[in-house]
Amino acid sequence: MQIYLDSACAPEIEKWLNSALIDGVTTNPTIMYRDGEYDLKKGVNKLAALIAPRPLSVEVISNDPEEMYLQGREYAAWRDNIVIKIPQVNTDGVPCYSVMHRLEDEGIRVNATVALSLSQVILSAKAGASFISIFAGRISDEGGNTTEVIADAVKWLERWKYKSQLIVGSIRSVGDILEAAKAGAHIITVPTPFMAKMADHRYARETVRQFLDDTAKATQARQAAS
Ligand code: E4P
Repeated sequence: MQIYLDSACAPEIEKWLNSALIDGVTTNPTIMYRDGEYDLKKGVNKLAALIAPRPLSVEVISNDPEEMYLQGREYAAWRDNIVIKIPQVNTDGVPCYSVMHRLEDEGIRVNATVALSLSQVILSAKAGASFISIFAGRISDEGGNTTEVIADAVKWLERWKYKSQLIVGSIRSVGDILEAAKAGAHIITVPTPFMAKMADHRYARETVRQFLDDTAKATQARQAAS
């Protein structure tokens, strides 16, 4: 299973890159805005260079499918490791699978984003998307069963041998990460604060403190005995 960071904050990303735990990064327009990356081209180029050769997902910013396609081509030309996020539908409910298919056909990797159901996963895989992003938190927000959607999607993709890798995003807790991992997600994209939460444990800190305290006591005892 791979771990991506769901972030556009270069210093945070850099911190975790050094740990060798991170296999890629995902962004969306909300994340770019939140993390102060107001100039898309500049921000994307900076992040893509920082994490290369790992993939960076960048979302198109149009509601028009033809324009999404043109933006996808433009953004993908900026750097080799850019993956283009195309939503399942636009705000009018127009399906965007032909955009995904055209980009993949040209050798541009697509992340079929905002997937909230198994049916959307099936269509994204058939359109040829390299990655499909299931939004766990948003499925739960609506009372859906996230674990079931992830597990069914993984089973279906593997049964029919589709190349699409399932990314689980929209993470709201460490519990969401563990549920997605147990359900078989290929990739989980984690907001950076949850990386530290995954690593930390009150009793682990106490245990390390105990070892250090006892080392100090042993040193004192050795000095007293000499
Ligand atoms: C990841 O690819 C998504 O863009 C992101 O996780 C969405 O998260 P949200 O539902 O918290 O906005």
